[in-house]
Amino acid sequence: MQTILITGGAGFIGSHLTRLFVTKYPSYQVINLDALTYAGNLENLKDIEHAENYQFVKGDICDAALLKKLFTDHAITGVLHCAAESHVDRSISDPLAFVRTNVIGTVTLLHAAKEAWKGNMEGKLFYHISTDEVYGSLGDEGFFTESTAYDPRSPYSASKASSDHFVRAFHHTYHLPIKISNCSNNYGPFHFPEKLIPLCIHNIINNKPLPIYGKGENVRDWLYVEDHVRAIDTIYHQGKIGETYNIGGHNEWTNIALVKELCKQMDEKLNRTAGSNEQLITYVTDRAGHDLRYAIDATKLKDELGWMPSLQFEEGLSKTIDWYLTNTEWLTNVTSGAYQQYYEGMYEGR
Ligand code: NAD
Ligand code: TYD
Repeated sequence: MQTILITGGAGFIGSHLTRLFVTKYPSYQVINLDALTYAGNLENLKDIEHAENYQFVKGDICDAALLKKLFTDHAITGVLHCAAESHVDRSISDPLAFVRTNVIGTVTLLHAAKEAWKGNMEGKLFYHISTDEVYGSLGDEGFFTESTAYDPRSPYSASKASSDHFVRAFHHTYHLPIKISNCSNNYGPFHFPEKLIPLCIHNIINNKPLPIYGKGENVRDWLYVEDHVRAIDTIYHQGKIGETYNIGGHNEWTNIALVKELCKQMDEKLNRTAGSNEQLITYVTDRAGHDLRYAIDATKLKDELGWMPSLQFEEGLSKTIDWYLTNTEWLTNVTSGAYQQYYEGMYEGR
């Protein structure tokens, strides 16, 4: 019998993870704690909201009293910690929000777990979901391994690196059973359209410019979100306590090549003349401190636990575009209101 607290379960990755655990493990009780910031959306979980083994709690991971009550009332045995501020551009304009949730929130959660499990750590697990961005930026060659030294360079990655350090510190100091995974860029359904892929899909649908930062030569390693949550499931159940696992797609794309592939696929899907979407590509001022290249070496995960990505990128991208073209109401809802203001502030005059 397990009771699992998922934080940030109404976000992009968190909603896929919550769905996987609720449907694959009917004997587990799953509690989703989410503050429902701009990035949290209960629409993402409509299909499981009435499941018997699922319950939603609206709340903040910085709220120590709420966390204490949750651990006491529900006898929580595992934590899957996804809640975070996750967008690099927002971290550049408001770094303190990232310190609050990603650092203070994570430490508040670690403390609550340590206090609740004190004297009985057997069978408990605090799983921290993190990013490859903690390792910094690569040149043209090489990969991030689990032993690459941390070198975060944006307020987002600095806050995630700090949270990773605190998770390890709680393991070493208090023997809290922990696992950490650091994953590359995810894409797929329910991705908030402030990030590159859903933003460009949304803009292509609406014939709006596709803003490419700098020369578009920055490289990211893209992984389909369902492959990521499958890896988390594998590590949660089979990984070693105290260990870190890198998760990645072996799928590197420059931003410009990726956006051109997106344009090509969407020319066909929207019955537009070949090459017409590419005309929307617009080069804009680069992101401050823009990391050049991320690339993950996921050998440890493959060799120790047998995990591999299941989808080729072109196929995953096609599935993702189809999802956005089908779920127009979801897209309309999340791009109205506050998102409009964000978009204008972010891209106006760039
Ligand atoms: P997201 O921004 O889509 O979702 C974050 C969720 O956390 C939202 O539901 C939000 O409401 C919730 N949240 C934010 N602050 C909170 C608080 N103080 N208390 C409770 N809930 C709060 O993020 P995502 O892209 O799904 O990322 C999830 C995790 O995975 C993050 O820790 C992120 O660092 C990590 N990650 C993301 C990627 C990626 O490509 N998106 C890659 C690797 C790792
Ligand atoms: P993003 O999706 O924000 O993820 P991350 O910064 O965490 O990697 O950005 C992916 C890449 O796309 C990154 O190199 C920045 C670039 N980018 C653009 O060129 N234009 C945009 O409008 C956005 C949002 C990102």
